[in-house]
Amino acid sequence: MSTFKDKIDLTRLPRHIAIIMDGNGRWAKERGYDRIFGHQNGVTSVREVTEAAAETGIQYLTLYAFSTENWARPQQEVNALMELLVDTIENETPTLNKNNVRLKAIGDLSRLPEGAGIKLQRCIAETSKNNGLTLVLALSYSSRWEINNAIKLLCNDVKSSKISINDISDETISNYLTTREIPDPDLMIRTSGEIRISNFLLWQIAYTELYFTNTHWPDFRKENFYEAIVDYQSRERRFGK
Ligand code: FPP
Repeated sequence: MSTFKDKIDLTRLPRHIAIIMDGNGRWAKERGYDRIFGHQNGVTSVREVTEAAAETGIQYLTLYAFSTENWARPQQEVNALMELLVDTIENETPTLNKNNVRLKAIGDLSRLPEGAGIKLQRCIAETSKNNGLTLVLALSYSSRWEINNAIKLLCNDVKSSKISINDISDETISNYLTTREIPDPDLMIRTSGEIRISNFLLWQIAYTELYFTNTHWPDFRKENFYEAIVDYQSRERRFGK
């Protein structure tokens, strides 16, 4: 049986794929379950996609796991999501190491509950020597928060004469974002049928190819991921030229 995996051109892989994991709530409701059941099943998709990215040779995979706006969800759902995130990160650390995956996190991490922050930093430290796939979790992240934060840091550096206004380039701005050591995404995927960006990596996606699918996140499997890569490879990227 021919699969999308066989159709991938390994010489033209996207270096960085970012994913807006959407539709957990709807997936659960359609089955008569609580939204949290959708998040729990979403973890399987996270595992599948991380494994697929590592196997294929993708260098960076960024997952939008919790947005700044998500703090406004019912406390019970926020707590369940935090617990799920932390438990998964903790349980999967040995597997990440076995597969040479390095974990990173972007976002306003100071807002995470103390215990969650500590466990997250532990996993980041324990996987920091790995040089295969870099898995980036966007946690308490929103692009406007990130840009606002970058402007404040930059203004401070201008005020203290570390940098002069005339020297501020696009590259300077990129270096003040939480993604400073991560290349811009080549491909961004959003699941579950919504055609919008929802405050994710706004600066970084200037030339990113966008891919939308109706599949809800808990149903997203390796083949769906490979299909998105094949679609990406069918496009001509001109970067405005
Ligand atoms: C969007 O679905 C999904 C989230 C807000 C959370 C994503 C989290 C996970 C998949 C859990 C664990 C993640 C990791 C990285 C271990 P939604 O609730 O917005 O769905 P809806 O749009 O159908 O309501």
